[in-house]
Amino acid sequence: MANGMDAAGGLGKNIIGAPISRIDGPLKTTGTARYTADFHFAYLAHAVPVQSTIASGRIKSLNTSVAEKMPGVLLVLHHGNMDKLYRVVPNDSAATTSEARPPFEDEKIYHWGQFVALVVGETLEQATAAARAVTVEYETKPASLKPSLSDYTGKRKSVSKRGDVDKAFLGAPVKIDQNYITPVETHNPIEMHSTVAMWEDNKVTLYETSQGVWNHRLAMAQILGIPRENVQVVTKFLGSGFGGKLFPWPHSALAAVAARRLDRPVKLSLSRKMMFTNVGHRPRCEQRFKIGATTDGKLVSLRQDYLNHTSFIDDIDEGCGEATPYLYSVPNLEITSALVQRNTGTPSPMRGPGAVPGLFAMESAMDELAIALKIDPIELRLRNEPLKDEGTGQEFSSRHLKECLEVGKQKFGWDKRTAAVGSMKRDGKILGWGMAAASWGAYRFGATATVELCADGRVCVRSATQDVGTGTYTVFAQVMHEKTGVPFDRIDVIIGDTSLPEGSMSGGSWATATSLPAISSAATNATKTLMQMAVSTTGSPFLDQDPSKLELSEGRVHLNGQASSTGIPFEEVVKLGRLKGIIGEGKTIPTFEDPKAKDLSLHSYAVQFVEVEWEPEIARLRVSRVVTVVDVGRIINLKAATNQILGAVVMGIGMGLLEQTTYEQRTGQPINGSMADYLMATCADSPKIDVTFLNYPDLAMNEYGARGVGEIGLAGVAPAITAAVYHATGIRVRELPVRIEDLLQAELREA
Ligand code: MOS
Repeated sequence: MANGMDAAGGLGKNIIGAPISRIDGPLKTTGTARYTADFHFAYLAHAVPVQSTIASGRIKSLNTSVAEKMPGVLLVLHHGNMDKLYRVVPNDSAATTSEARPPFEDEKIYHWGQFVALVVGETLEQATAAARAVTVEYETKPASLKPSLSDYTGKRKSVSKRGDVDKAFLGAPVKIDQNYITPVETHNPIEMHSTVAMWEDNKVTLYETSQGVWNHRLAMAQILGIPRENVQVVTKFLGSGFGGKLFPWPHSALAAVAARRLDRPVKLSLSRKMMFTNVGHRPRCEQRFKIGATTDGKLVSLRQDYLNHTSFIDDIDEGCGEATPYLYSVPNLEITSALVQRNTGTPSPMRGPGAVPGLFAMESAMDELAIALKIDPIELRLRNEPLKDEGTGQEFSSRHLKECLEVGKQKFGWDKRTAAVGSMKRDGKILGWGMAAASWGAYRFGATATVELCADGRVCVRSATQDVGTGTYTVFAQVMHEKTGVPFDRIDVIIGDTSLPEGSMSGGSWATATSLPAISSAATNATKTLMQMAVSTTGSPFLDQDPSKLELSEGRVHLNGQASSTGIPFEEVVKLGRLKGIIGEGKTIPTFEDPKAKDLSLHSYAVQFVEVEWEPEIARLRVSRVVTVVDVGRIINLKAATNQILGAVVMGIGMGLLEQTTYEQRTGQPINGSMADYLMATCADSPKIDVTFLNYPDLAMNEYGARGVGEIGLAGVAPAITAAVYHATGIRVRELPVRIEDLLQAELREA
């Protein structure tokens, strides 16, 4: 992989696409970056929630008298003494919350771990001790906790439909009909969810772990029942979120109410254990895939019927049909969905929501079809490449899945593959080779930004987005450098605060594509004003010239086509005008309002190849090699983009082999609700990972042609693993994660 460049300047326009190291890297590695839980204020009090120990029922009585008398205890909040909170307008995309039910709204219990009280103390230790002293008597109802959803017989929603799928399936000469299961997975970002709430008069500032400060502000204003201008949300750094931090969770409102009651700043940080019960998870999905094909491998029918669990509070549809309608050409298709309620917390988006479990099922079924047909799995996909998006009838803005397949085939060395199960060996180990295709939507929503060319020679870009850890600070600095030639040490990227112009949410891999037009046009507009000043301000060497003959490069204003040294530093123009700074505003129009984009099918594509090593004698399965070829438009920062795919591949190995949240069947408590018990892929599980970007600009997205990187790197890993496992062992694992028991039992059956 290319080494990072600590570009201080000089790259000019070539900075777009370069492997630039994060500008916030030194702040993070020296511990100077302030994450939410790092915000401390005078008189800061600490809040600790009390959690339900049952999964379903109601609170009969709650005794706080012992806790209230304990040292340092300032306040105990519960349903009986809680401030009035409100719900947000349902399905209002401008103000989304994770759970419709505000905390302590009633005495009902919907899941184990639900917050039933909040203890606030002078210190974290005092609050923790007092929280343990709160006693709760429950009226317990039978809980619905069965993992399997398969006995669901209720109504189904039609998600997508074309042709006559059942008739076509009946008449198809080759058929696949299988069920695929993906388990509950829990987000484990390195940084725990936290809120630090502070009131001044009737205005609240919330230091938050939020992937979307703007949405958080609008949602919290509704929940607290106060005007939006009275809520400020600040998220300076995030230790990732993976979708769990997109929308507010109950702890945010609890911290706000406690701080208001006490008229003191209050910090509420979730424990890792609470991360398993109170802030979302990827729900369990059960999918039936029926594929009909001709004997030469042309798809004739595709049916996907999926179920996912949700909570009793919220209807969360995982959206497993996301990639199904357009990935392959098939004349007859139907997708249906339904939700099954369980006594768990409310599920939430988790990296590549919908598409990731959906593609595990579809790509597994495609691999099974390739085997049934005795056609190479790459060839099967090539034979079903669509000419347009058959789900919507739209043209693709830019689709290079075929080239992903061809480049990946080369890079992985697929030609050396022998198809027979267990036929490939290396160093006494059996090798399995598998592959899968992947896709993820390309999104561009609305955003605004300002760029200020300052009298002190600095360039300031401002937008209320946030850096979830992916490199947003750096991408913004790159665009400012590209536009002005000013080096990084004179560029300020100011994000993560709702006092700034409305910016993008950091989700769906869309923050870059959404922010680029706003920050780029803000820089262009600031420069236009600068040039106007340069030709109209007394003392300027360019007085009375044509402003269109001027350009800004290396931080200097000069005549077009001449060296920048012939001009003057931009700040001289600002100072001549007696200004503190020249501000330009910029705006991104969402794709669905853009005549150039709204009628196009906008998606990213990838292909992932996996090699596993299987040692049946000691039942050891390892992923030894992953090759990923990605078509995500033009890359803005090669290093940050590569990091995104590397991380996603490691997460994919976890999804394939390790991750699964299991609930205890009587209480609903997660059995493996800790970092010690919940298995995730670590460095030791990470193989050699090769990442290639095709780098075709998608100009329907923005002037740079960037679509967005991140989630797509996860989407094909698990089905490529199970395909490789089949190739090595002859066992088709249709329920994730792949467990050694699955493979051992097969060995025993054979023996
Ligand atoms: Mo992602 S699941 O949109 O943070």
